[in-house]
Amino acid sequence: MTARRRTLGVCYYPEHWPEEQWPEDARRMAEAGLTWVRIGEFAWGRIEPEPGRLDWGWLDRAIQTLGREGLKVVLGTPTATPPKWVLDRHADMLAMDAEGRPRKFGSRRHYCFSHEGYLGECRRIVTEIARRYGRNPHVAAWQTDNEYGCHDTVLSYSDAARRAFRDWLRARFPAEGGNGGDIGALNLAWGNVFWSMDYADFNDIDLPNRTVTEPNPAHSLAFRAFSSDQVVRFNRAQVEIIRAHSDAPIAHNYMGRVTEFDHFKLGADLDIASWDSYPLGFLEDRVGASAEDQRHFARQGDPDFQAFHHDLYRAVGRGRWWVMEQQPGPVNWAPYNPAPLPGMVRLWTWEAFAHGAEAVCYFRWRQAPFAQEQMHAGLLRPDSAEAPGLAEARAVAGELAEAPEVSQARAPVALIFDYAADWAWTVQPHGRGLSYFDLLFAHYRALRRAGLSVDILPPEGRDFSGYRAIFAPGMMHMPEALKEALASCGAEVVIGPRSAARDEHFSIPVPLPPAFPGLDVTVLRVESLRPDMPIAVQGGGAVTGYREELETSCKAILQLEDGQAVAVQSGRIAYVGGWGDDVMLDRLVAEIAARAGLETLSLPRGLRVRDSGHERFWFNHNPHPLESPVGTIPAAGVIRQRKGTT
Ligand code: GAL
Repeated sequence: MTARRRTLGVCYYPEHWPEEQWPEDARRMAEAGLTWVRIGEFAWGRIEPEPGRLDWGWLDRAIQTLGREGLKVVLGTPTATPPKWVLDRHADMLAMDAEGRPRKFGSRRHYCFSHEGYLGECRRIVTEIARRYGRNPHVAAWQTDNEYGCHDTVLSYSDAARRAFRDWLRARFPAEGGNGGDIGALNLAWGNVFWSMDYADFNDIDLPNRTVTEPNPAHSLAFRAFSSDQVVRFNRAQVEIIRAHSDAPIAHNYMGRVTEFDHFKLGADLDIASWDSYPLGFLEDRVGASAEDQRHFARQGDPDFQAFHHDLYRAVGRGRWWVMEQQPGPVNWAPYNPAPLPGMVRLWTWEAFAHGAEAVCYFRWRQAPFAQEQMHAGLLRPDSAEAPGLAEARAVAGELAEAPEVSQARAPVALIFDYAADWAWTVQPHGRGLSYFDLLFAHYRALRRAGLSVDILPPEGRDFSGYRAIFAPGMMHMPEALKEALASCGAEVVIGPRSAARDEHFSIPVPLPPAFPGLDVTVLRVESLRPDMPIAVQGGGAVTGYREELETSCKAILQLEDGQAVAVQSGRIAYVGGWGDDVMLDRLVAEIAARAGLETLSLPRGLRVRDSGHERFWFNHNPHPLESPVGTIPAAGVIRQRKGTT
């Protein structure tokens, strides 16, 4: 597929440092083997200290200083941090939380995506920046905003959001002749006859917060889809402006486990997907690892979580993706912030390249002695001496000189990830803690334990040909076209639990789910289970948390101890009627891989394999050396094999 050199970079804040220091910083970056420097994404206050007074001098000189050393600039639009005067001009631009309280000035991301006045300010500043630097020879890429959705900032219950939501619904339920919306159609689709919730007019519809008990799930799901579209719209406004002034590629830096907007939809407007990888920061809150795993991997991070996002964002970027921020040492924001085990910064970097990254940029160049992130490591200490991460970055830069280009290859197995399904599970988990993300991640882990490389795919617009097995668990609404495409693609296909369980407006379809072509399975009843009531599977493993009762004439491939089938198969389609624990998922993967003719491994804890076009990589995420089929791998070690060699 693509063939690009693998490169390294760093995030830099020239506005944080005296100008006399910039030339030396640039020289040291180039000397360390870095190619990219991302700047500017929080600098609105310095670019435009007062409304309309633009101070370009410092930014011109910063870009020039970096460019002189041969460094390429990724220029960020500064819209994640509107200065105070922007807020003074638009007092109602703040996002509102679900309790109806406005967020405050004093950190970042304090805006509502639906506020037209703020969007206007963003258009204005982005136009100014794109005009000034669109043809600058050193500006070789762009980043829009910073981490959409981070700090829980997608859903806003503001007046602006309420107005925009009503318009969005009118367009979703258009009246015949196209004049306004059809409120009767909305009432019917949502089932508003229930609890006398019918609306007479779109202007009667409020946002689904502060209701006495839960709002109508159709209402909540629509609000989430709307909120996602607002992020896409906000980003698109910036992209259109940048494209009018520059030919350089445009990226956004996504975050780990942020699912409140559809990254595939947003990414369709961009050239490159990138994400911010903080393996130790994520371990406790975002991975949801067991206490034992948190301890074991405290200095290495989860062995699958970064890989999952690499694969997800490779799909979002349609093959072109970067790590825009890579943890280089301890961070400041997790419950505990240990230092990485020596070797892990190098391992994380190589892991990204193994999954097809074009670039890995470290966050940040120098640790800031002031403000919120003073406890966050950089490649340099606050006194400009080298921090431990720099030696590892430099080592990778040396290795890259010998390494082949980025080479991607279609993986044998695909996993479909659907943001709308994540919203549906969030709106109606049906049991405490049940989440779509966790279900998908559990499947991903099982595939990786079997040594399989995985492509993550969006639910729409991808060609399924060439895959030997496709997993699409938990996708609560499955459009008929997707069902048909899966049924006829020739791969082994695995769906369930909860696949096709709702129509697009959150009603239970009749005939009952999954109503999948060529598969005689009907889900008669579903139940969620306390964590302490697993149901054992004959031969090993258990269903935990969620279980479905199936009526079926298909062959059982896994049965519960009570004799009921939990996984069945007909032709190339398998349906799984429950949430399997790791042992059950390992058995499921082994069964499907055997049917698909795929060779599997049984990898020990912390050992992972990834195939790229020319290479096979082995990663030891353990804090101790490990025997592997390719010899002993040291703690935090990486073995890179050219394909066809040992
Ligand atoms: C990221 C963010 C950076 C910085 C970093 C600290 O989420 O994009 O600006 O805050 O975290 O780890």
